[in-house]
Amino acid sequence: MNITPLNTTDYDHIVFFTGAGMSAESGVPTYRGSGGIWHEYRWEDYASQEAWKRNPDKVFDFHDERRKEALKCNPHAGHEVIALLEQDHPDVSVVTQNIDGMHQRSGSRKVTELHGSIWRIRCEEEGVIHEDMNPGPYAARKCNCGAWLRPDIIWFSDYLNPNILSQADEIVSRADLFISIGTSGVVWPAAGYPQLAKSGGAKLIEINPEPTELSHLYDQIYPDKAGKVLQKLFDLLHLNIT
Ligand code: OAD
Repeated sequence: MNITPLNTTDYDHIVFFTGAGMSAESGVPTYRGSGGIWHEYRWEDYASQEAWKRNPDKVFDFHDERRKEALKCNPHAGHEVIALLEQDHPDVSVVTQNIDGMHQRSGSRKVTELHGSIWRIRCEEEGVIHEDMNPGPYAARKCNCGAWLRPDIIWFSDYLNPNILSQADEIVSRADLFISIGTSGVVWPAAGYPQLAKSGGAKLIEINPEPTELSHLYDQIYPDKAGKVLQKLFDLLHLNIT
């Protein structure tokens, strides 16, 4: 595939909008499509407030598995490209639907996590959120106050954190280059971000081996894997990771 590298100095505000396909190349399963998590597990039983209230241990077991999977995987060249660009350019941000912390592990600092993180836990009784970077299962399932803890993740039917939403809206609205990577574009409100960026005048690029619901919005589409396209698009082929 012929990819002409972008000149990053042509853009003031670069936004990478990522989904499960970004992590797929590191070995983390996606949600939909072949091998997707929601084919193996019913989200109603593992990723909803109701499921957690019904059977918190079952929901914890599922999320302990997600932590274990994420730890077995490492950021790939595409993650590295984004982290390197952040060092070289005044305004590079990541807005991600991923909960695995892979962007941060590769060195990205400006990461807005729309759907929370498997590396945080919260007590709904006390209204506090803690990091839980224990390299394995969650360190505790119950709070010192006696209440069940809850992975700090946006599950189905949950409202997104309004502060995170307004931060993401602000970042996406001011983008002049918006690059969407590895998302099927079916989960809202995240699925509205490409249109928001377009309305703000951004150039839109999609990287995804498969067409998506939102492909028609993009100015350029690269139907290939994230790592390979990102290295070529930003002329960082020397990273040489496939
Ligand atoms: P999906 O699983 O819906 O979509 C993953 C996308 O990644 C698909 O379009 C694939 O074609 C694409 N893909 C696979 N491998 C790729 C690669 N190497 N490079 C680029 N793209 C690749 O995942 P999301 O769109 O992220 O929500 O799903 C959105 C939300 O739905 C998730 O955040 C999660 C899920 O339910 C919550 O957990 C709240």
